[in-house]
Amino acid sequence: MRTVLVTGASAGLGLALARLLVDHTDYRVILTARTRSLDRFTRAGIVASERVWLRGMDVVDPTQRRLVVEEANDRWGGVDIVVNNAGVSYRSVVEHVNDRERLAQMDVNFRSPMELIRLTLPRMREKRWGRIINISSVSGMMAMPTMAVYSASKFALEGATESLWYEVRPWNIKVTLVQPGFINSNSFQRVHLTELSARSVASEVDPYHAHYHHMAPFIERTMGRAFATPDRVARKILRIMQRKNPPLRVAATIDAWLFFMLRRFLPRKIYHYVLYRALPNVDEWGPPKTLAPADPVKDRISADPSTADPRTADTTVEPRPTECPRF
Ligand SMILES: NC(=O)c1ccc[n+]([C@@H]2O[C@H](COP(=O)([O-])OP(=O)(O)OC[C@H]3O[C@@H](n4cnc5c(N)ncnc54)[C@H](OP(=O)(O)O)[C@@H]3O)[C@@H](O)[C@H]2O)c1
Repeated sequence: MRTVLVTGASAGLGLALARLLVDHTDYRVILTARTRSLDRFTRAGIVASERVWLRGMDVVDPTQRRLVVEEANDRWGGVDIVVNNAGVSYRSVVEHVNDRERLAQMDVNFRSPMELIRLTLPRMREKRWGRIINISSVSGMMAMPTMAVYSASKFALEGATESLWYEVRPWNIKVTLVQPGFINSNSFQRVHLTELSARSVASEVDPYHAHYHHMAPFIERTMGRAFATPDRVARKILRIMQRKNPPLRVAATIDAWLFFMLRRFLPRKIYHYVLYRALPNVDEWGPPKTLAPADPVKDRISADPSTADPRTADTTVEPRPTECPRF
């Protein structure tokens, strides 16, 4: 009987997968969640048993990670399948994330899964069998404005997982990235704001206010209309576990597949332009657009004091011209 460990199993996709695994008597199951969230298992009707362990594990806590894996090694001979599902998401433009916040995002979505993989790999290599399933996102293949660090964390996860795919194949350890797009769930309510993005959301005069003002309801609406549910994606993950040769990447929702196709077949310049134009109310983002279009050559000359003609130099401050996006 294989042993599966799931992180962040107390809500959303993790909880949906937990429910499936509990019913699936072929597996021994270790469901982990932050200690403060463990009571959600009881509320979801999941109870601990010989075959199902419920363990407190904040993925960023090295001691908790180690204790859970050591217990699995001692009593069940190791973890055979790891599902790195726990994730957080910061909503912020690049300019509004400080280093502490950036690290907090990377800690949960990238650094902790890597550490858990390092802890579980030795037993998998001994057994010449293992499965590592990292829950990535469509944001691991494309980036959206106001989701810069979230995307960065998933791109990092994708890169390292791709390396791992080659590295552990000789031991019959199969590695998969699951890429959901929008899931119909309320997880957008758990999105974190950074100190500066929270200020910008609250202030209509902040230069980035329109970015958040239009992106947040757009994402919320799209999630609300999404066809994919946590249960559907969880079933897909279960099928991946059961496959003899699971692929490296699995688009877990129809929109993820669509974005994959767009990115693969559209020339990059067109792809980025189309996506830019599709952003909600993008013409209202940034500085006012009522000014004359910019003349980049003239701007460069007049902005460079060394090329200015002192006789004709105008010392009044010009308003910033409209910035045209370049792709
Ligand atoms: N929802 C989507 O549309 C979507 C789309 C693409 C990818 N994904 C990915 O799918 C995965 C699951 O997302 P979801 O939608 O189910 O999100 P969710 O509903 O917000 O659930 C996230 C889970 O991660 C846990 N978690 C957060 N920080 C943790 C930590 N430090 N230690 C342990 N657990 C922690 C949460 O536990 P607490 O309750 O204790 O906070 C919660 O159980 C994530 O990796 C996410 O990036 C989701």
